[in-house]
Amino acid sequence: MVKSKRLKTLASLTKGFDVVLDIGTDHGLVLKEAIDLKYIQKGIASDVRELPLNKAKQNLKGYPVTYYLSDGFLSIEESYDAVLIAGMGAYLMSDILKNAPQGDITYILQANDKIDALRQSLQQQGFKIIEEHIVYETHDYIILVVKRGEMDLTEVDILLGPVLRHKKEARKHYDKQIKKIESFINQVDAQRKKTLLKQIEIYRNN
Ligand SMILES: C[S@@+](CC[C@H](N)C(=O)[O-])C[C@H]1O[C@@H](n2cnc3c(N)ncnc32)[C@H](O)[C@@H]1O
Repeated sequence: MVKSKRLKTLASLTKGFDVVLDIGTDHGLVLKEAIDLKYIQKGIASDVRELPLNKAKQNLKGYPVTYYLSDGFLSIEESYDAVLIAGMGAYLMSDILKNAPQGDITYILQANDKIDALRQSLQQQGFKIIEEHIVYETHDYIILVVKRGEMDLTEVDILLGPVLRHKKEARKHYDKQIKKIESFINQVDAQRKKTLLKQIEIYRNN
């Protein structure tokens, strides 16, 4: 069983899917947990680099998993009903999603930063956010569950999350974001300061 709350939560979100494609699998521990707990039938572990993929092969020896050395979706030759992309930056994740297939597939996404940029890119690329979760560990991790579809996000939705903003447990995260911005706002130029003041206002008043 994995100890990390982030990995545990990611694994729990795979519950009920048959085949999960894990892009950027690295250690492969989310697939391991999901198969151990019988959440899924089979995993597809993929990574763009050989070293992390080998790590997954070691951790998943004897598990019903196939392996691909692949840049995102590009070399994957099997079907799946859910995709997991976690532990990367939002811009890399948005780039990978440009090659995501159409169809009834659920995407479980956890970007390490710039979650607002990811939400915006998802809207532009024709995805709809279905669920948002927050995990408090060494960092605050936000996990999105998305499908193909349309959404019309407001400025507030993009920053706070269209689902997360209605959850009580997100307040602590928004308060931390205000403190973080306040710690450097006096070191930025006037234009940037204006944007950040607007963000503080959104975090405070919603
Ligand atoms: C920090 S690890 C995250 C591991 C795991 N998903 C997690 O959440 O703990 C990021 C992994 O993504 C892989 N990666 C980066 N760009 C990729 C791409 N374009 N396609 C597939 N994997 C990629 C890296 O090689 C690395 O193993």
